[in-house]
Amino acid sequence: MNLAIMASGRGSNAAAILDAIANDHLDARAVALITNRENVGALDVARAHNVPSHAVPRRSYPSRNAQQRRMLELLQDSGADFVALAGFDAILRPFIVAAYPNRILNIHPSLLPAFAGGMAPVPQTEALRAGVTISGCTVHVVTDDLDAGPIVAQAAVPVLPGDTVDSLSDRILEQEHRVYPLALRWFAEDRVRIENGRVHIQSEESQALWPHPAP
Ligand code: GRF
Repeated sequence: MNLAIMASGRGSNAAAILDAIANDHLDARAVALITNRENVGALDVARAHNVPSHAVPRRSYPSRNAQQRRMLELLQDSGADFVALAGFDAILRPFIVAAYPNRILNIHPSLLPAFAGGMAPVPQTEALRAGVTISGCTVHVVTDDLDAGPIVAQAAVPVLPGDTVDSLSDRILEQEHRVYPLALRWFAEDRVRIENGRVHIQSEESQALWPHPAP
């Protein structure tokens, strides 16, 4: 797997993925990290892991389309054959999704299809407001339907009395760092089949992860 990561923020998921590669938990080569913003933590993460990084800020391009055309060019030039969105806050244009069919994953900080649509910390805020007692994160395949592509893996966490958006987000993030490298590994090992919008994994591991210790 020649993996490109796209991110917009601090880059903790990018770091978890790159650490997994460095520690031989994920058999992939990180070929590029692309951001749509300058001066974000994700760029430092890429530098620390010697991954070529590219900032493609909106203001350097005449339109969002032109900006994403440039991103696609960078993906293709890097030799990427798989893309992980890791806190990427723009909606991918259909021409990027079509260039990597079933080869782009995203991580979302809720148990989809609940609380789809918003960027962190909106899903966590909505979960607290709704009073759910369990939340978590979802790795899904990116399609043109926002946050609605086939679900690859989910990890659940309890929502505890007295939780704030920050405390819930931290608990979910810990699981994100566990579930994203694992989901990528299934693809890297060619153990994923997608049929009728459903993901099937040939794996000893479950697609449902629980916080340790398992209930
Ligand atoms: C995470 O909560 C992720 O689920 C969401 O954006 C956040 C990114 O965090 N898509 P980081 O930049 O990976 O630390």
